Amino acid sequence: MAYKIAIIVGSLREGSINRKVARSICGLRNDNLDCSMIEIGDLPLYNQDLDSNSPEQWVRFREQVGQADGVLFCSPEYNRGIPGVLKNAIDVGSRPYGQSVFDKKPAAIVTASPGSIGGFGANHQIRQAAVFLNMPVMQAPEAYLGHVTDDSFDESGCLKEGPLKELIKGLAHAFHDWVHMIHESRRLLAEDSAHAAEAKAHA
Ligand SMILES: Cc1cc2nc3c(=O)[nH]c(=O)nc-3n(C[C@H](O)[C@H](O)[C@H](O)COP(=O)(O)O)c2cc1C
Repeated sequence: MAYKIAIIVGSLREGSINRKVARSICGLRNDNLDCSMIEIGDLPLYNQDLDSNSPEQWVRFREQVGQADGVLFCSPEYNRGIPGVLKNAIDVGSRPYGQSVFDKKPAAIVTASPGSIGGFGANHQIRQAAVFLNMPVMQAPEAYLGHVTDDSFDESGCLKEGPLKELIKGLAHAFHDWVHMIHESRRLLAEDSAHAAEAKAHA
């Protein structure tokens, strides 16, 4: 069964390496991960005053993420942290209070950079937000992708053969298994509770 995955890329740049990594993940796992890129560049800055009358872009974003079975964050690191556009999208999706579209959704976090520490700082700031958002985040494999440049991709924008592609393949498989485990265990728990309630009713 294909799980719907909302991919949120933390870069608005046309030639973003993070967008290319995201696209490569979609390409590698399109048989059982049904990936859609959710655009965040048009989201007005979050303002709590607008919770009761949200801009249409916020509504569209919340609907798109809300329909997904899981969320994949693919982001650069800006000044050792989360790019503002991504933080804004996270804030928009998390509100109004009690109606977060991220709640309980399994997630994975990938950060890519031409630098050597692969966006570690941004990766962990996203993880920090995900704790509060109540998202079960895949712990391993961790994906701080360092030394990623335009040369890492072919003309179609997909990862060239090599260790990075192998790592991403492993990550895509692991993410599918993670999303499946979360949804399947919830389904089984719900089934168990229903059986228990039925047995109690007939006791
Ligand atoms: C405002 C800004 C801040 C940056 N800060 C970092 C940083 O803290 N760590 C890092 O590894 N790279 C940093 N970079 C370099 C980015 O990793 C690089 O531009 C990368 O290609 C951006 O990702 P993208 O290609 O997906 O847009 C920064 C770039 C910009 C524009």
